[in-house]
Amino acid sequence: MSHRIAQPRRYLMCRPEHFTVSYRINPWMQPERPTDTARALAQWQTLHDTYVSLGHEVELIDPVPGLPDMVYTANGGFTVDGRALGVRFRVDERRGEEQPFMDWFAAHGFEVVEPIEVQEGEGDFLLVGDTILAGTGFRSTGHSHREVADVFGLEVVSLRLVDPRFYHLDTAIAVLDPSSGAPTEPGSGAASIAYLPTAFDDASREVLEERFPDAIRVSDADGAVFGLNAASDGCNVFISPRATGFAEQLRERGYRPVPVDLSELLLGGGGIKCCTLELRGKR
Ligand code: ARG
Repeated sequence: MSHRIAQPRRYLMCRPEHFTVSYRINPWMQPERPTDTARALAQWQTLHDTYVSLGHEVELIDPVPGLPDMVYTANGGFTVDGRALGVRFRVDERRGEEQPFMDWFAAHGFEVVEPIEVQEGEGDFLLVGDTILAGTGFRSTGHSHREVADVFGLEVVSLRLVDPRFYHLDTAIAVLDPSSGAPTEPGSGAASIAYLPTAFDDASREVLEERFPDAIRVSDADGAVFGLNAASDGCNVFISPRATGFAEQLRERGYRPVPVDLSELLLGGGGIKCCTLELRGKR
């Protein structure tokens, strides 16, 4: 029996109606390889329905033709306490998504902050308790880490990614207990994050070891199938069915792995977390 308690979440997702791989901005993308949009839609729908069936609220943003990566809503912004910081993509191919996401936040009652620095939202910013873990090395800049700290008035811990396959922080770290005060018992093997050690430089690995001594360290094999690109409600952890070792580690700690296959969306270099943006309203 799991001792963990699921907390209802509110997520923003985008139906992959225009999904395809027409350019290459990460090593997973192979434009010459055909994609199957119907299959992407079916897999995405399963993820959507799985969230809903477990009591989570899912909001939708309309997909825009010509923006095939818009399905990866984690890159649409970063929200805390009813405030949404928009994004400024490093890659030109995705800059057309910036305004539609900011418009969505504004239309849904968020106080929107337009960003100055280059950063790709919750792809590189992960909230753990009251701390933001922030990734750099491939997409978001170090300057953006200062900006996100100022905008939200929260502590930011910068981490450097070194493996091009894991170009966003959410491909190398999974937050398991997203909000502070999540019920964990001392000595229960509590782990607030899971991560892929080899995705980081030595200094960042030391920071992670020091700050999260109980974290789950995931194998290279599970990392390579995008196992870390997972969403969690504090009990259910939505992960790739191919990350079998990670699933076992989660079970040992009292979490409930919920496998959802997004293999078609992996052709664009994204998985479960990439397709999921957490909407944090006023606390
Ligand atoms: N093709 C997209 C890109 O390279 C995939 C984004 C994945 N998103 C994420 N949060 N890791 O930008």
